[in-house]
Amino acid sequence: MYLSRRGLLYGSAGVAAVSLSGCGIGGEDDKQLTGFTGISMPTDTSERWVIEGKALEANLKELGYDVVHSNAKDVVEDQISQIQSMVDEGVEFLIVAAIDNKSLGQVLAAAKDKGVTVISYDRLILETPDVDYYASFDNYQVGVLQATHIIDRLGIRDNEGPFNLEIFSGDLGDNNSQYFFMGGLDTFESLLYSGKVVIPSGQTEQDPTSTAGWSGDVAKERMDTLIKEYYSDDRELHAVLSPYDGISRGIVAALVENDYEPGTAGFPVVTGQDAEAASVKAIKDGTGQTETVFKDTRQLAHTVTGMVQAIVEGGEPEVNDLGTYDNGFKFVPSLLLDPVDVTAENYVEVIVESEYLTEEQIDAGEA
Ligand code: BGC
Repeated sequence: MYLSRRGLLYGSAGVAAVSLSGCGIGGEDDKQLTGFTGISMPTDTSERWVIEGKALEANLKELGYDVVHSNAKDVVEDQISQIQSMVDEGVEFLIVAAIDNKSLGQVLAAAKDKGVTVISYDRLILETPDVDYYASFDNYQVGVLQATHIIDRLGIRDNEGPFNLEIFSGDLGDNNSQYFFMGGLDTFESLLYSGKVVIPSGQTEQDPTSTAGWSGDVAKERMDTLIKEYYSDDRELHAVLSPYDGISRGIVAALVENDYEPGTAGFPVVTGQDAEAASVKAIKDGTGQTETVFKDTRQLAHTVTGMVQAIVEGGEPEVNDLGTYDNGFKFVPSLLLDPVDVTAENYVEVIVESEYLTEEQIDAGEA
C-alpha cells in the first residue's frame, strides 16, 4: 500500500522548497541537454488533461525546446507505445500522467537506459525505480476539503443527525484516488464512529465505491442502484462525497431521474473536483453539486516546465516534499501545490478573477 497518513501530509504542507543536491539527476551529464520533451496525457474525456497537455507544450516550445505530445485516450497499451516512440525519437525528458499507475515499469526502464529524466505528472507512477520527480497537488487535502464542505453545509457538528452519506471514489488504477478517498474518510472518521454520520449502503471501502475510468456514466448507474436499494423507503440521502466533477454530474443526473429536485432542501449535498465549466455553472446556478475543488493546473504546468528548464540549465528542480509519495521503490521527490475549495460564495474570486474561466464559459458550461 502507498497510503500516506494524515500526519505526514499535514507535515508536508507548506514546507519550504528544498534542493536535491547529490541526487544525481541532470546537470551532471557531459552531454548538453536541448530540452527535447515527450508529453503523455491520459484521457481527453476530462477537460483538464487536454488543456494541460497544450499548456505544457506551449510553455516548453516558448523556451525553444522540441516537444512530442500525445493523448492516449484511456487506452493503456496506447500510452505505453506512445511513450516508447518518444524514447525512440530521443526525448531527454518525459512528462507522464498515467492512465494506469502500475503499467509503465517496462517502458520507463527503456527510457532510463537512454538517460531520460521522468516526471510523473499529477498522478504518481508506481512500482518502478525509474521516476525522478513528481509534481501534483496535495491530494489528501482535496478529500479533506470535500468532506469539510459537506460537514459545514449540513451543519453536521451543530445538529443531532444522523446524516446519511454515500461515498464515491475514483478509478482504482489512479494513485490519487486513494488520497482523495482517505482525506474524505479521515475527515468523517469521528462522525462515523459516533453514529452522527451513517453510510446506509455500508460501502465504505475504496473498491466498492470506485468509479472505473472516472466515468460519469458509471457513477450515474451506481447512484441509481444505491437509491433504489437503500433509499426507496423514504430514507433521506443527505450528502454524496464525490471526488471529481464528471462523476458528480453523473450522480446528480441519477438523483434527478429519481425525483430529487436540485436547489431544494431535500437535494443532497454533492461535492466535486477540477472546476469544470459545467460544474461551476451548476454551483453558480444552484442546479446540482454545491462544491468543487480548484487545482490551478496552469500553475502545475508552469511548475513542471520549470523542472525541465532547471535541469537543462544544469540546476536542480525545486521540490517541497521528500517523504510522502512512496511509489513502492522510493519516496519520489515531489512538488505539491495547494488545492482550493470553491462554492457559490467564492467562485468569482477564485475562478473568474484568476481568469481560469470567464463568466461566459461558466454560463455556457463549456471551457
Ligand atoms: C486528478 C484529478 C482528476 C481525475 C480524473 C486525477 O488523477 O488528480 O484532478 O479529477 O484524475 O481525471
